[in-house]
This record gives sequence, structure tokens and C-alpha cells, in this order.
Amino acid sequence: MKLQAQFLVFGIALLSYGFVGATQSTGKSQADRLFARAQADDYMGSNAGCMECHPDKVEHFSESPHAAFMSDPNLPPDKSGCQGCHGPGNIHVADENAEVISFTKMSPKESSAACLRCHEKTMDKNQWHRTDHARADVACVSCHQIHSDTETDLGKKVKSKDPRSALFAAKPDPKSMLKADEETLCGSCHPAVTAEFRGAHRHPVPEGRMVCSDCHSPHPSKANTVRQDALKKNCVTCHTEKAGPFIFEHDPVAGNIGDGCVECHRPHGTNNPRLLISVTRGLCAQCHTDKLAGHHPGQTCWNAGCHVATHGSNTDPRFLQH
Ligand code: HEC
Ligand code: HEC
Ligand code: HEC
Ligand code: HEC
Ligand code: HEC
Ligand code: HEC
Ligand code: HEC
Ligand code: HEC
Ligand code: HEC
Repeated sequence: MKLQAQFLVFGIALLSYGFVGATQSTGKSQADRLFARAQADDYMGSNAGCMECHPDKVEHFSESPHAAFMSDPNLPPDKSGCQGCHGPGNIHVADENAEVISFTKMSPKESSAACLRCHEKTMDKNQWHRTDHARADVACVSCHQIHSDTETDLGKKVKSKDPRSALFAAKPDPKSMLKADEETLCGSCHPAVTAEFRGAHRHPVPEGRMVCSDCHSPHPSKANTVRQDALKKNCVTCHTEKAGPFIFEHDPVAGNIGDGCVECHRPHGTNNPRLLISVTRGLCAQCHTDKLAGHHPGQTCWNAGCHVATHGSNTDPRFLQH
């Protein structure tokens, strides 16, 4: 009894500390308001309180990467166990105001705000709300799935795929809790992009050697704002030999004009070798209009003997050799 009382006092202290943190840094989402209203006795002692009515969720929860981080008994109740995400259990089971945080029934904005209560290290709310995804009402739970036993249409799609592909496809890292491998997940909303990866030449995403998030970060942060850029900085993290600096830089490669590498390359896939937008001299003549038909006719500009160092040269201002 004495122990319990001590725990309660400790809990209240932590709880009020939690309130201050929440109101100062995150403003008022639906989840923030529910947690802010909660008193210590609105919380059930443990996840066992949910067992009676949601046995499947409780039984499978140990499979969730969250379990390891949210089962520490020293955590304040608004950050631990089932209630850390779904809100105080006794408010939920009360006859009046039977409120619960339901990530699938809330608006995408409110749902994501409920995740961001704890994930401001990955990104803060302002950064998230500026993304194309947030603006288009895509929520954290459009890509992530917390409970391993939740049935999703995407999950079914993965299971019904040709079983052989499982040997080669990039499996989602279970730690990231994605609904499916990235090609399936992202492709479910971006089918035109997946189609580009069927080109004869492509970045090896279908082969499972790369994933969409190698180039696109769904989580903007101060550290990786450039990752969605088509510019040199992104591509040369892997193609280091194109990074230069060269004594003679080619402006579009260096990113001085246009969109950098994608002035000449399709980033996803195409039927043209080297992922080129075009394999005719038209590729170069889109800028060098004076070099259309008359300048060394019948050859591509980067043929052996011509501008073989299109990406920049240390010896030749006309890129005739590296
Ligand atoms: C006495 C039974 C009971 C207990 C105990 C209980 N719940 Fe529920 N819960 C329900 C019922 C009934 C519903 C369905 C309400 C509905 O469909 O509108 C529900 C709905 C939910 C939902 C929303 C599901 C949806 O369809 O979006 C969540 C989340 C949830 N409960 C979480 C919890 C958590 C977490 C606990 C423990 C802290 C808990 N519940 C304890 C009875 C209970
Ligand atoms: C990290 C946050 C988080 C934790 C912790 C968590 N849940 Fe959930 N819960 C979710 C999300 C998100 C969903 C929506 C479906 C999904 O992602 O699996 C959900 C869905 C549910 C549902 C509704 C099922 C449905 O299909 O909509 C119930 C009931 C539920 N959780 C109960 C629990 C119980 C009980 C626990 C503790 C054992 C728990 N949750 C722990 C985030 C969480
Ligand atoms: C009560 C706090 C809390 C809430 C709410 C919460 N998380 Fe988490 N989550 C954590 C902690 C703590 C970790 C482990 C440490 C870390 O990565 O920050 C974690 C880890 C994760 C990871 C894995 C990170 C890794 O290590 O690879 C993902 C993905 C994730 N959470 C997504 C979500 C999503 C989506 C939601 C909303 C449905 C959510 N979380 C809600 C606390 C929370
Ligand atoms: C468009 C799909 C998508 C959306 C929407 C999305 N994520 Fe993710 N998330 C991913 C992918 C893919 C990864 C794994 C690759 C990576 O780390 O960038 C990931 C990884 C994570 C991780 C672990 C790695 C890290 O960066 O710390 C956390 C935590 C996380 N997501 C939380 C969230 C939260 C919170 C939201 C909503 C505010 C969210 N995600 C929205 C796709 C998404
Ligand atoms: C639930 C559907 C959904 C999922 C899943 C999804 N997206 Fe999106 N994505 C959208 C919508 C909607 C937009 C905004 C409208 C548009 O430009 O198509 C968008 C926009 C984008 C953009 C910016 C488009 C532009 O025009 O600049 C990129 C890049 C992107 N998504 C990549 C991804 C990646 C990578 C994944 C997987 C990790 C993913 N998306 C998963 C729906 C989704
Ligand atoms: C090699 C890096 C790379 C990979 C891998 C990659 N992308 Fe892209 N993606 C880009 C670049 C660069 C752009 C910008 C193209 C431009 O500006 O012309 C882009 C543009 C996009 C766009 C917006 C414009 C459009 O083409 O519709 C979407 C959506 C997108 N990518 C989704 C995806 C998805 C989904 C995957 C995985 C299946 C993926 N990307 C894999 C580099 C990549
Ligand atoms: C995460 C690493 C990574 C990033 C980032 C990346 N690539 Fe690649 N790239 C690869 C891999 C792997 C291959 C395939 C090489 C192979 O099959 O041997 C490749 C192939 C290519 C090829 C075809 C090479 C050939 O010989 O046919 C071109 C062109 C290319 N990438 C351009 C780009 C551009 C432009 C960007 C930025 C939009 C980019 N890459 C970003 C890893 C990357
Ligand atoms: C002005 C047009 C142009 C721009 C801009 C450009 N490339 Fe290329 N790239 C080419 C051409 C042409 C080839 C084919 C060369 C060949 O087949 O000999 C090529 C080939 C490649 C190859 C494969 C063959 C090789 O030489 O290794 C890679 C990888 C590549 N480019 C990466 C990049 C990256 C990364 C960027 C941005 C930093 C970039 N390219 C910008 C025109 C361009
Ligand atoms: C997006 C526009 C653009 C594209 C596409 C482009 N260039 Fe350039 N190129 C430039 C600019 C800008 C300069 C430097 C300014 C100038 O014209 O003097 C330059 C300079 C050059 C030079 C140096 C000689 C000179 O005229 O100053 C050569 C050679 C050259 N480019 C060849 C090529 C070849 C070969 C291709 C196709 C593989 C190509 N360029 C594609 C914009 C482009």
C-alpha cells in the first residue's frame, strides 16, 4: 500500500512535468488535450487492463519494436504502454466520454500529431506539415503499422505476391514497422513511378539492391533536407566519382544551372542506356542549340573521340578527355 502511494506521488510529479513539456513544445492537438486533461487515477495500472477486451492486441504487443521502449516502469503513464499512444484507459472505459485515441479514425493531421508527441526527435510538427505527404493528407499510419496483427490491404498484397519474389525483394526492416516493403508500399500510391522501374535500365530497386528512401527521405529534418533534391549532393553520395570538383566543370552537372543530374538522366528508370533522357544529340542540343545538325553529324556528342568527359574534366575545357 505504502509503495503504491509512493509510486502515485512519483507518477504525478512526472505527469505534471510531462504536461509542461507537451504544452510548450507541441501546441494543442486532440491527443495533447486528452492527455492534458487526465488525472493520475484516469490511468490503468498496466497493459493488463486492456487484456479483457482487446486480448489480441495485448498478446501481440511484445512483437512490436515499441514494446521494448514503452514497458519501462519508470516512464510516466502518458509515455508508457498502450496508454502512451491510446490515452488514459479509465476515460476510455467510462460510460460517459468513452474517448480513446484511434489512429485510424482520427483525421490524418490529428493522427500524425499523436505520433509526434514522442517523435519530435525524428522531425517536428512544422517540418512534417510542410511535406508533400502531410499536405496531401498522408499520415504516419499510411506507411507505418504498429501492431503486427493488424490486417491491411497492403499486407495481403505482399502475401499474395509470387512467393519467389520474397527471396529477392528488399524486406522491410522490421524495426521501421512499415506496412510492406518500400516498393510495394510507395508503389501503392505512386504506380507511375513503379512503372518507370520496369524500364530496361533502372536503379536496382526491383532487384532489392536499393529502396526508395535511399533517395527520398519521408522524414525531413535539419540533417537531411537535401535528400529529396535531384541535385548533385544527393546523387554523388553513391556516384562519388561524379562529385568533382573538376578544373573544368560542366555547369548542368555541377548544378549551376537547371536541376542538376536530372537534366540528362531519369532517376528511376527508362529504356535508354545509362538512364539517359535521350540517346541522340538532342540531349545536349536542348541547351547547345547551335550544335544541332551541322556539328559532326551522325554521332552522339559523347562518342569515343568526342566529349567523353561530360561530367567535368581536369585536363580539357571542352570535355574531350578526362
Ligand atoms: C471493458 C472493455 C474495454 C477495455 C478494458 C478497453 N477497451 Fe478499448 N474498446 C472497447 C470497445 C467496446 C471498443 C469499441 C468501440 C467502438 O467500436 O466504437 C473499444 C475501442 C478501442 C479502440 C478503438 C478501435 C477502433 O476501432 O478504432 C482502441 C484504440 C482501444 N479500444 C484501446 C484500448 C486500450 C489501449 C485499452 C487499455 C488501456 C482498452 N482499449 C481497454 C472496450 C474496452
Ligand atoms: C506506438 C503507439 C501504439 C501503442 C503503444 C499501442 N497502439 Fe494500438 N494502435 C496504434 C495504431 C497506430 C493503430 C492503428 C493500426 C496499426 O497501426 O496497427 C492501433 C490500433 C489499435 C486498436 C484498434 C484496432 C484497429 O484495427 O483499428 C486497438 C484495439 C489497439 N490498438 C489496442 C492497443 C493495446 C491494447 C495496446 C497495448 C498492448 C496498444 N494498442 C498499444 C498505436 C499504438
Ligand atoms: C508514447 C511515446 C510514443 C508514441 C506516441 C509513438 N512512439 Fe514510436 N517510438 C517511441 C520510442 C521511445 C521509440 C524508440 C526510440 C526512438 O526511435 O525514438 C519509438 C520507435 C518508433 C519507430 C522505430 C524507430 C527505429 O528504431 O527504427 C517507429 C517507426 C515509430 N516509433 C513510429 C511511430 C508511429 C507511426 C507512431 C504513431 C502511430 C508512434 N511511433 C507513436 C515512442 C512513441
Ligand atoms: C510516405 C511513407 C512514410 C510516412 C508518411 C511516414 N514514414 Fe516514418 N518511415 C518511412 C520509411 C520508408 C522509413 C525507413 C527509412 C528511413 O529511415 O528513412 C521510416 C522510418 C521511421 C522511423 C525510424 C527512423 C527515424 O527516422 O528515426 C521513425 C521513428 C518514423 N519513421 C516515424 C514516423 C512518424 C512519426 C511519421 C508521421 C509524422 C512518419 N514516420 C511518417 C516511411 C514513412
Ligand atoms: C497513402 C498514399 C501514399 C504513400 C503510401 C506514399 N505516398 Fe508519396 N505522395 C502521396 C501523395 C498524395 C503525394 C502528393 C501528391 C503528389 O504529388 O503526387 C505524394 C508525394 C510524394 C513525393 C513528392 C512528389 C512531387 O511531386 O514532388 C515524393 C517524392 C513521394 N511522395 C515519395 C514517396 C515515397 C518514397 C513513398 C514510400 C516511402 C511514398 N511516397 C508513399 C501519397 C503517398
Ligand atoms: C536514385 C534515386 C531515386 C530513387 C531510388 C527513387 N527516386 Fe523518386 N525521384 C528521384 C529524383 C531525383 C526525382 C526528381 C525528378 C525530377 O525532378 O525530374 C524523383 C521524383 C519522384 C517523384 C515525383 C515526381 C514523379 O516522377 O512523379 C515521386 C512520386 C517519386 N520520385 C517516388 C519514388 C518512389 C515511389 C520510389 C521507389 C519505388 C523512388 N521514387 C525511387 C530519385 C529517386
Ligand atoms: C543509394 C545509392 C545511389 C544513389 C543515391 C544514386 N544512385 Fe545511381 N546507381 C546506383 C546503383 C547501385 C546503380 C546500378 C549500378 C549497377 O547496376 O552496377 C546505379 C546506376 C546509375 C546509372 C546507370 C549507370 C550505368 O552504367 O548504366 C546512372 C546514370 C545513375 N545511377 C545516375 C544517378 C543519378 C542521376 C542519381 C541521383 C538522382 C543517382 N544515380 C543516385 C546507386 C545510387
Ligand atoms: C549534360 C548531361 C549530363 C548531366 C547533367 C549528367 N550526366 Fe551522367 N551521363 C551523361 C552521359 C551522356 C552519359 C553516358 C556516357 C557514356 O555512355 O559514355 C552519362 C553517364 C553517367 C553514368 C554511367 C556511366 C559512367 O560514366 O560512369 C553515371 C553513373 C552518371 N552519368 C551519373 C551522373 C550524375 C551523378 C550526375 C549529376 C552529378 C550526372 N550524371 C549528370 C550525361 C550527363
Ligand atoms: C541544361 C543545359 C545543358 C545541357 C543539357 C548540356 N550542356 Fe554543355 N554546357 C552548358 C553550359 C551552361 C555550359 C557553359 C556555358 C557555355 O555555353 O559556355 C556548357 C559547356 C559545355 C562545353 C564546354 C565548351 C563550351 O561551349 O563552353 C561542352 C564541350 C559541352 N557543354 C558539351 C555538352 C554535351 C556533350 C552535352 C550532352 C551530353 C551537354 N553539353 C549538355 C549547358 C548544358
